[in-house]
Amino acid sequence: MSDASPARRPRVLSGAQPTADSYHLGNYFGAFRQWAAMQDEFEAFYFIPDLHAITVDYDPALLRERTYIAAAQMLAAGVDPERSIVFVQSHVPEHAQLAWVFNCLTGFGEASRMTQFKDKSATGGADKASVGLLTYPMLMAADILIYQADKVPVGEDQRQHVELTRNLAQRFNHRFGETFTVPEAHIVKATAKIYDLQDPTRKMSGSNPSHAGVIDMIDTPKTVTKKVRSAVTDSGSEISYDPQNKPGIANLLTIHAALTGQEIDDIVAEYEGKQYGHLKVALGELLADFVGDFGRRTEELLADRAELDRIFAAGAARAREIAVPTLERVYERSGFVAPLG
Ligand code: TRP
Repeated sequence: MSDASPARRPRVLSGAQPTADSYHLGNYFGAFRQWAAMQDEFEAFYFIPDLHAITVDYDPALLRERTYIAAAQMLAAGVDPERSIVFVQSHVPEHAQLAWVFNCLTGFGEASRMTQFKDKSATGGADKASVGLLTYPMLMAADILIYQADKVPVGEDQRQHVELTRNLAQRFNHRFGETFTVPEAHIVKATAKIYDLQDPTRKMSGSNPSHAGVIDMIDTPKTVTKKVRSAVTDSGSEISYDPQNKPGIANLLTIHAALTGQEIDDIVAEYEGKQYGHLKVALGELLADFVGDFGRRTEELLADRAELDRIFAAGAARAREIAVPTLERVYERSGFVAPLG
């Protein structure tokens, strides 16, 4: 509607912040693998939101390194820069320019009420939280709307930000004329929900206090085997899928199914009459092989930074072909005098 070309594929867009030394298994199943699976049906935009990463305390050298790691892991997971537009957010300055327009369309109270802002700013007190943290959702709206994205695969924790994005698209369209596609969140299915191996009621997350229950994608096969072996299981010994009463075993079965593509019921049937230990050994081996392969691919990619730089440059160039005209349209509709040239 708001895009000139009639027969284009629907667009998908997502980003994963480079705020850790590695993504973990939950990120892999919940995000990257999903992204890779969507890149043929959709025209895909996948990027590293480095501008978002500086909304909280951070170290510049670490941010740069983590940006490369994030990209390498995204590619190792199957995101293909030939088929998708892969780029770094700060390489496309139009995101920040469009975010400013959205900042001016968002109420101060509206932004202050976002749950992620409330959570993150509560930790250190109002003076410790940056204004950037407050405006984070409007930058995210700009990331999405500047490409007229149709679908945004995110975790449940980002649903409210996509909701705000939809509101801002509608607000702008209503006030200044039809300009933006109103996107939809694509919340990844519950089957890909992976829990902490040490506390299977808590989501696997990089910010969990201990990484003993978190499979990091840079873990060695040996570490992974050990983490699976010491996974917390439940009382009893019979292997059945019962997330209520046996969250530990249910989580191991979920990971097994996600890795092998088997149905959980079939896996349970395979383990009839066997004990928790059998499942742990088999899953430990599967996961060790998996992180071994993944780690080798990541290392290969990281060994050639110049190639990653070229991928970023090509991605940013393709992204800007769409971002620049969108921003021009927005500026024109916003009432800015067009600069000569
Ligand atoms: N805020 C997202 C997260 O922390 C990352 C992100 C930034 C993003 N911009 C985006 C995700 C645009 C989807 C679309 O997970």
